[in-house]
Amino acid sequence: MPPLDDAEPLEIEDIGSNPTRRETLAGIAERRFSRRGMLVGAGAAAALAAAGPALAEAEGPSSLGFRELSHRLGQRDAVAEGYESQVVIRWGDPVLADAPPFDPAAQTAAAQAQQFGYNNDYLDFFPLPRGSASSDHGLLVVNHEYTNTNLIFPGLGAGRSAAQKASAEQSAVEQAAHGLSVVEIRRQDGRWAPVRDGRLNRRITAATPMRISGPAAGHERLKTNADPTGTRVLGTLNNCSGGNTPWGTVLTAEENFNVYFGGAAATSGAQRDHYKRYGIIAESNYAWPRYEDRFNLDKEPNEPNRFGWVVEFDPYDPDSVPVKRTALGHFKHEACNHAISADGRVVIYMGDDERFEYIYKFVTARPFAPNDPAANRDLLDEGTLYVARFADDGTLQWMPLVHGEGPLTAANGFASQAEVLIETRRAADLLGATPMDRPEDVEPNPATGRVYAMLTNNISRTTQRLNPANPRAANAHGHVVEIIPPGAGTGRVDHAATTATWEIFLMAGKPGLDPGTRYHRATSDQGWLSCPDNCAFDKHGRLWITTDGAPAAAGVADGLYAADTRGYGRALPRLFYQAPTGAEVCGPCFTPDGETIFLAIQHPGEDPGSSYDRPSTRWPDFQEGMPPRPSVIATTRKGGGEIGS
Ligand code: FEO
Ligand code: CA
Ligand code: CA
Ligand code: CA
Repeated sequence: MPPLDDAEPLEIEDIGSNPTRRETLAGIAERRFSRRGMLVGAGAAAALAAAGPALAEAEGPSSLGFRELSHRLGQRDAVAEGYESQVVIRWGDPVLADAPPFDPAAQTAAAQAQQFGYNNDYLDFFPLPRGSASSDHGLLVVNHEYTNTNLIFPGLGAGRSAAQKASAEQSAVEQAAHGLSVVEIRRQDGRWAPVRDGRLNRRITAATPMRISGPAAGHERLKTNADPTGTRVLGTLNNCSGGNTPWGTVLTAEENFNVYFGGAAATSGAQRDHYKRYGIIAESNYAWPRYEDRFNLDKEPNEPNRFGWVVEFDPYDPDSVPVKRTALGHFKHEACNHAISADGRVVIYMGDDERFEYIYKFVTARPFAPNDPAANRDLLDEGTLYVARFADDGTLQWMPLVHGEGPLTAANGFASQAEVLIETRRAADLLGATPMDRPEDVEPNPATGRVYAMLTNNISRTTQRLNPANPRAANAHGHVVEIIPPGAGTGRVDHAATTATWEIFLMAGKPGLDPGTRYHRATSDQGWLSCPDNCAFDKHGRLWITTDGAPAAAGVADGLYAADTRGYGRALPRLFYQAPTGAEVCGPCFTPDGETIFLAIQHPGEDPGSSYDRPSTRWPDFQEGMPPRPSVIATTRKGGGEIGS
């Protein structure tokens, strides 16, 4: 990854490290759309509107009952009329009982390790008591993906170079601001608040002891000086999206783990080709390698192989040791959303978020045992990892990453299943997987069994590298692909099957302006979106999409959009929430009753030229001297009721 211009925001930019070229026929995508008459391009919209004026009215045929917001960019956020948002917890707020109050001018690693971390992404709500369906009391579990050094500390200036100026103590603060928070929260008199001395409150950081399990555990390439067993590791990094399991544990996805490491070995060491495939380069994005040997490739060449996994832990046990599940593959994990297949096996859908990377799923070897927690404890250690190949006839092949099968043999440098997993990307290349436009959330719709892949964007895709599921060159706005497993819609969905079919649900961007957009023809000037990232489904199977990368230059902020997935309002998005400037919106999560939606507002103020001393916004506090603070918000309907109805 080359250093970006100093004026660029710190958001990690995925330039792609997959050289695979797969050219396919033009026009395939058109056929994939045309199977659904409701989805039309901007060019055809006028003609179709004339043919069906009833569907082109201002409110359209959406089943959603809120009046959408207007696109806008500002220092403050906004939510649809009739709804209200409140901040539940902010970066620096106390999590552990002994945590000191937040003092941004005098931060210490010890304080940060007890306070809410930075850049909240995945969030989830685990009801209390365990096993209940409570919607007013539970555990909020939140990922802290990365740190914006320039917005965290005074005096370092704007841009990426601020990160290199961090002192040893500031680097330690940043490491403590990574990981996750588990916070007991309760709703009383309509207000959500953390339980200050919650017994289950927990901080997980870059230093929390963890276990490595599954086929790659103990492999030579996972061993370090600190851990000659290759089974113990400190911390989790770049936890982006995530998910949960049917047995009530958290799955947290380690995404851009490459950016923390640096050293000359990136280009000269024995693993240089492997590093290159994962975007590990000589220069770290952070100052950490200067202060800690394990981030220095020249001293610990295997440490990066211990990040980039899915990590599982029990949020209801504050002493539980998180486990890195190597069977789920080694890549820039975004999301890990489960479905229970018709035969009871558990299927985890996952994306590898970088340009031209792949969509994966993991299928457990054994079925989920609802009444036997011990049987589920290590269910994710045994099973089959698959990668997706999208064919131009609308079918999809899930190809197994199994040692000894197909090209995954010693002749190609894979001596064992452990090596297939450590080099997941290279194994998937050899299988001919379909390079995608940056897969973010990949999530099954519980109402229908269809699986939705958010493909956030890929401006590097050229016309020579188009494929049927990624049909737009210079794809600045992304799209959403729908994967349809056998049995979808029947109540017995075979998520474990090795085949499926697929459709394109929408092509993002502004209709009439951006080439190749595709939505429901009644999509309004406010309903179009850019850069889909996370998603969630409400009780009615409607898709709620958050965005990361909306065109600020066009006056558009990131936000939360909702759309029907079936019926007359299919693929007709409506804008529900607008973020403050610089922020992406993450982790949409409903309470079981559907009356609260939690959102993670990540990196407010991450704009060119923005810094701690001169931020582009001071959301959410708007107090002089207080920097912008990534925060989790709760949105409810004034007077109560289901969100969106
Ligand atoms: Fe951290 Fe793929 O977004
Ligand atoms: Ca994301
Ligand atoms: Ca999600
Ligand atoms: Ca993103």
